Order: sequence, then structure tokens, then C-alpha cells
Amino acid sequence: MSNTTIPTASGGKRIVFTGGSGKAGRHAIPYLLAQGHKVLNLDLVPFPDSTVDVYTLKTDLTDSGQVFNALTSHFNMSGYMSGPLPSAPDVVIHFAAYARNMLVPDSECFQANVRSTYNVIEAACKLGVKKIIIASSETVYGVCFAQGDTDYRSFPLTEDYDCDPEDTYALSKLCGEQTARAFARRFKIDIYAFRIGNVIEPHEYARDFPAYLAAPETRKRNAWSYSDARDLGQMCDLAIKKSGLGFQIFNATNDTITVRGTTTREFLEKHCPQTSIVREMGEFEAPLSNRKMRDVLGFRDLHDWRKYVS
Ligand SMILES: NC(=O)c1ccc[n+]([C@@H]2O[C@H](COP(=O)([O-])OP(=O)(O)OC[C@H]3O[C@@H](n4cnc5c(N)ncnc54)[C@H](O)[C@@H]3O)[C@@H](O)[C@H]2O)c1
Repeated sequence: MSNTTIPTASGGKRIVFTGGSGKAGRHAIPYLLAQGHKVLNLDLVPFPDSTVDVYTLKTDLTDSGQVFNALTSHFNMSGYMSGPLPSAPDVVIHFAAYARNMLVPDSECFQANVRSTYNVIEAACKLGVKKIIIASSETVYGVCFAQGDTDYRSFPLTEDYDCDPEDTYALSKLCGEQTARAFARRFKIDIYAFRIGNVIEPHEYARDFPAYLAAPETRKRNAWSYSDARDLGQMCDLAIKKSGLGFQIFNATNDTITVRGTTTREFLEKHCPQTSIVREMGEFEAPLSNRKMRDVLGFRDLHDWRKYVS
């Protein structure tokens, strides 16, 4: 099947977004729509905000047949009234997953996440999609869901870190990265894996950050870093605009460490004395560093937590 591009009125891209009804997608999709893109959401549950102009096609991504079919669907019912027959989108953004352990038994988390990611990437590649973005995770750095207190090997956490997670969810995400790498190589397209940090929605700053700041030891598992759900939309948009990088991993976090009254280096030296700091770090740089995201894709942090937490 050819990938004939159906232009959007604004010149934006036609994007199939999986898992858009979730915590990250419900904020990333409005950002993408505001940039002039058209979005079809593939999810098991409806999009939570009826004021947002996005159609949800109920699709179980663990079923390859459903995925191939959904990727050649109209974007909404008006597709029948005007315009061309349905075809594959320009871009696929795959966020759907069991987003942590303990939602379902480990074996189900592993097989569902790995299979869904395989199905989405395979179908997109074979249908001629040239840009795919997938959600990986901070957990591949091996501390978030480790058994007991575990140290990071070094700081900052960067994309070339030797990831060796021990838990099922993180392993499923690492398998997703490898799947992306294989298909990007075979089809010679761009697949960018975002290692997303702890996703924060707008209402969570005032609600949750005071407790995080009061007990920083509880945030080691997130490397004192986070990902604003709206800024994830910006990161996706930047990744859509960038081309020709093949397979890439990007830490998809915001700029600054989530502690107060100390620089990143001072904080890490005090709280993680066993862990070496292997390069200079920005004064308040997030330990799960987004430097590559900023330097290569041009990310500009619009939602620094310090704006929202008094
Ligand atoms: N939330 C975090 O802090 C965090 C951190 C790092 C990485 N991530 C990753 O980012 C992505 C988005 O996370 P989130 O917090 O929005 O997750 P979420 O659980 O809020 O949303 C995931 C969505 O995927 C959908 N989904 C699950 N299985 C599906 C299937 N088989 N077919 C179709 N849809 C399915 C769910 O219905 C849900 O709407 C996930 O891949 C997650 O693993 C999340």
C-alpha cells in the first residue's frame, strides 16, 4: 500500500497517536492539535476531554490485525463525506502501554507491552510511515523498580548509559527500544524512543511537589527528574520536524532537578556519595538529563516546576 500523504489544511501532519487517552497523551494531543496537526487516537478507552477535537478509535494494539487496520483508517466520521480514501498517516506516536508494574501480572505486562510496540512499529513501517516516536521510560536506568535501594552507576543519566533493569516493565520498555532499532535499520526510517520521566499533569504540581520537596529521598527512583505532560507534546512536535536521524533515544525530561536550596552537584554528592558524576552538570540540571533533547531537537522547557510550586 502506498503512503499517499493527505495534506491537512494547515500543512500539519496526520498523526496516529496510541494511548492518547492516558495521562501523557491527554495533554500532548492538544499541544499537537494546536500546532496544526490532525490526530487520530487509538486507545481502549475514550479521550477524557470532549472539548478536544480528536476521534478515538477503540483498538487493541496487542492484535496485529487491528493495528494494521487502524493505521489505514479515516481520522473521523467526516472522512466518509469528503476527501480521499483512507491511507496510512505521516507519523505514528506510540504511547499506549501498561505504564508500570503491578497493574496486571508481570507476564501480561511484558507480553502486552512488547507485542503492542512490535505490532505498531511493524505495521507503521510496512505501511510506509517514515516517522515513528515511541514511549520508553526512565525505568530502563534500573533503579525505579529495583528490589530495595539501588544506586545509579553514574550521573548524569544519559542515553548512552548501559541499561540493565531487573524488573518486568522496564525490560518491556528496553525490548521496545530494541524493536525500534531493528525496524529503523531495516526500513531506513526515523524511529525516536523517548525515555520519559515521571509524567506530571498540570494539577499535580501544587498537589504533589510540596511532599516531594519535603522528602527528596522518595524521588531517587525518578532521579529527581520529571516530564511535564504538555512539554511531551512539544517534544513530539520537535521530533516530527526533525528528519534523517534514524534510530535515536532521547531522554524526554524537563530541565531542572526537583529539589530546592542546592545545586545538582551538591545534592547528588550528598545523597548519592557512591555514585560518580562523570561530566560537568548545569547548576540545576536534572540528573536524568535532557541535554540531547535540547541540543538535537531544540527543546525549550515551558513548564519548569518552579513556576507552579510556591
Ligand atoms: N506515567 C509516567 O510517569 C511514565 C513514565 C515513563 C514512561 N511512561 C510511558 O509513557 C507512556 C504514556 O504513559 P501514561 O502515563 O500516559 O500511561 P497511562 O496508563 O495513563 O495511559 C496509557 C494508555 O494506553 C492505553 N492502552 C493500554 N493498553 C492498550 C492496548 N492494548 N491497546 C490500546 N490502548 C491501550 C490505556 O487505555 C491508556 O489510555 C507509556 O508508554 C508509559 O509506559 C510513563
